[in-house]
Amino acid sequence: MAEYTHYSSLRDRSVFITGGATGIGASLVEAFAAQGCRVAFVDIAEREGLALAADLEKRFGTTVAFSPCDVTKIDQLRGAIRTLSQVVGDITVLINNVANDTRYDSTKLSEATWYESLAVNLHPAFFSAQEVQPHMARQGGGAIINFSSINAMVGPAKLASYNTAKAAILGLSKSLARDFGPDNIRVNTIVPGWVATERQLKRWLTPEVEKKWLQNSCLNRRILPEDVAKLALFLASDDARMITSQKFIIDGGRI
Ligand SMILES: NC(=O)c1ccc[n+]([C@@H]2O[C@H](COP(=O)([O-])OP(=O)(O)OC[C@H]3O[C@@H](n4cnc5c(N)ncnc54)[C@H](O)[C@@H]3O)[C@@H](O)[C@H]2O)c1
Repeated sequence: MAEYTHYSSLRDRSVFITGGATGIGASLVEAFAAQGCRVAFVDIAEREGLALAADLEKRFGTTVAFSPCDVTKIDQLRGAIRTLSQVVGDITVLINNVANDTRYDSTKLSEATWYESLAVNLHPAFFSAQEVQPHMARQGGGAIINFSSINAMVGPAKLASYNTAKAAILGLSKSLARDFGPDNIRVNTIVPGWVATERQLKRWLTPEVEKKWLQNSCLNRRILPEDVAKLALFLASDDARMITSQKFIIDGGRI
């Protein structure tokens, strides 16, 4: 397991994470469980989600609650937040991590596929924030962390709908930081570069591609999921109490 800095302000906090069963999401779930938070998470990957929750509960002795959920169905997402918050309490940390970066040829991308892509990469971030806003307001504040990508700035091929959603996330975070700020709710965005998750390594981050990526980076090493989770811990903690409406690029100096 990665070594995480301990933030005493995170102990016993109730955290909700979308897409937490695998990849960066699984590192987020682990990192917050390791702080002693009560963590709730959703994913469509049911087997992985159940296994992760059981493993972390055993290792950290804290509540880690998983519910299978397709976040493109906003009713399901709202329902999962309601059900899981019965288990972990009012949510005061929300991490909108879920995404799907399937590649499409822009000359052939259908209307249905375009909307499906936005339905997973953009819409849940708004509706989950709207759903937890009353929780955070009655608890005296909270932290929302959204996920963009440097792809929104670089614009790599075959990712038009994903890149568009990731650019929109930056505007969404700024807007919600303004709208929710009076209730002491902070909203920030993490903007990762290429993170070496299993899915990326299996599908796109081949040794040749990685070599090229590193040649264009300042640091000659991989970004790991736990590097991203560590930034999320800081942003969620009270150490970041005056940080809101900002974006944080974690890309080894690629941009
Ligand atoms: N990995 C990278 O290189 C990278 C780079 C930049 C930004 N990001 C961003 O970081 C975040 C996490 O990235 P990742 O690489 O771990 O993502 P991923 O695609 O590997 O994992 C996302 C998780 O979401 C789940 N999921 C997908 N569709 C779902 C749905 N409809 N309902 C519920 N769950 C669903 C998947 O099962 C998976 O567990 C994303 O927002 C991504 O855009 C990642």
